[in-house]
Amino acid sequence: MVLQNYIGALILLVSFLASLGVSSNSNVIIPSTNVITEEPEFTEVIENVTVPAGRNVKLACSVKNLGSYKVAWMHFEQSAILTVHNHVITRNPRISVTHDKHDKYKTWFLHIANVQEEDKGRYMCQINTVTAKTQFGYVHVVVPPNIDDSLSSSDIIVRENSNVTLKCRAHGSPQPTIKWKRDDNSKININKSLSVYEWSGDVLEITKISRLDMGAYLCIASNTVPPSVSKKIKVSVDFSPMLQIPHQLVGVPLNYNVTLECFTEAHPTSLNYWTRDDGHMIHDSKKYKTEQSVGVPSYRTHMRLTIYNVQHSDYGTIKCVAKNPRGETDGTIRLYLSTPPTSAPVPTVENFQDWSDPRSDINIVNNTTINGHNHYNSIHVPDKNIKQLSNLNEIDKFERKSTEKASWPIEERFNHANHCRKNSNLVLIATLVVLIILQISKFK
Ligand SMILES: *[C@@H]1O[C@H](CO)[C@@H](O)[C@H](O)[C@H]1NC(C)=O
Ligand SMILES: *[C@@H]1O[C@H](CO)[C@@H](O)[C@H](O)[C@H]1NC(C)=O
Ligand SMILES: *[C@@H]1O[C@H](CO)[C@@H](O)[C@H](O)[C@H]1NC(C)=O
Ligand SMILES: *[C@@H]1O[C@H](CO)[C@@H](O)[C@H](O)[C@H]1NC(C)=O
Ligand SMILES: *[C@@H]1O[C@H](CO)[C@@H](O)[C@H](O)[C@H]1NC(C)=O
Ligand SMILES: *[C@@H]1O[C@H](CO)[C@@H](O)[C@H](O)[C@H]1NC(C)=O
Repeated sequence: MVLQNYIGALILLVSFLASLGVSSNSNVIIPSTNVITEEPEFTEVIENVTVPAGRNVKLACSVKNLGSYKVAWMHFEQSAILTVHNHVITRNPRISVTHDKHDKYKTWFLHIANVQEEDKGRYMCQINTVTAKTQFGYVHVVVPPNIDDSLSSSDIIVRENSNVTLKCRAHGSPQPTIKWKRDDNSKININKSLSVYEWSGDVLEITKISRLDMGAYLCIASNTVPPSVSKKIKVSVDFSPMLQIPHQLVGVPLNYNVTLECFTEAHPTSLNYWTRDDGHMIHDSKKYKTEQSVGVPSYRTHMRLTIYNVQHSDYGTIKCVAKNPRGETDGTIRLYLSTPPTSAPVPTVENFQDWSDPRSDINIVNNTTINGHNHYNSIHVPDKNIKQLSNLNEIDKFERKSTEKASWPIEERFNHANHCRKNSNLVLIATLVVLIILQISKFK
């Protein structure tokens, strides 16, 4: 009410000053002389408007019988008088007032240029009758969402198993809501018992983050005003390298080529390489080819080492090594001499396949000096047997009996070596007998 009194007084003052200054018009109508005429009245309600920030807006206040009364525009929440009659009172340069001259001061327009969020609220159109007449219209200013980078998370690097909090703050009108998604549309693992495709709220907390949670997260801010906006936050999860070796024991015959494999997981990406027994790094050459391919997910790497034309000196231990700033690991592959695939009779082939089975060879590898010749002799046993067996059927039978079990107990295996030695003796004797018979037949 204080405001209204104040406004009433101001309107009088303004109109008085206006009439003094503006014109030599002698028809200064004093309201009190107008008692006979009808009181002014509003003829239409003020339309509410919803306007995106930045646009211009116009509010209309329609009156009849205004006579010498004045129309003023006010902003209720700001308790601000904006215009009185033709005059702009506020210092806001974006406000102006016009009226339709052709309809005898019936419609008064309040113009707001380049509408800002603070312009929203209740606008009053008032006539300075003895008891002021007032009507309202609302201006709703809508602002599309905008993400405040300074209050939102940016790309982060965290250690695996740590807890991660991502924040996203947005403003706009109405207040935007925030939701989170993963860029690849996979689920967000909030904690070990909760995984969701979408998470709502300004804050996204991930408990005990894992390497599987690595990737880009999107915070999406939206209100009713398009466009929605999003921010991409990359989450990197660091961990020390890990190795997986599909075949730790690899048998290869002399003069063959062989490819060894290791799979690594590391973030940041590890430096991966191969070394020999003596720790020397293996470089690409005619002898070696190293290959590396990035897997899925990208922290996985497939390492391959091809050794061409395997020689005695190649048997033994080869390591694959992975190093990153978080740590280092290595894995061992043992390369042992195996029997070449053979075209010998089917049953023997079967038997020899047992020999090249890594499981049955573990102890042979374990129990021999890799570079010593004795080693090769002992492992060569099947090789010799091929020749022997193709000559002597008896021994073939004997062999089959002793190799029937897929996996021998250690003692039997060593017995087996002895059997082979016996076999050699048999061959020797048999050969001698044949030779003697031949000699005798020659003499005859
Ligand atoms: C404008 O909005 C107000 C409040 O939201 C409401 O009371 C009034 O009836 C509306 N006016 C028009 C013309 O729709
Ligand atoms: C991570 O959060 C879980 C559950 O809120 C809590 O038990 C754990 O101690 C937190 N770990 C760290 C490293 O803060
Ligand atoms: C997982 O997160 C949800 C949401 O924050 C919470 O309600 C629930 O208790 C959490 N579960 C565990 C096991 O921490
Ligand atoms: C080994 O690889 C080389 C080059 O690729 C090839 O020429 C050769 O035939 C291979 N040897 C065997 C036994 O496969
Ligand atoms: C190798 O032999 C040694 C001594 O007999 C034993 O301690 C070790 O466990 C063996 N290793 C394998 C892989 O069999
Ligand atoms: C392996 O060789 C070692 C000596 O190098 C020997 O002590 C051990 O008994 C052998 N293992 C088997 C299972 O025969």
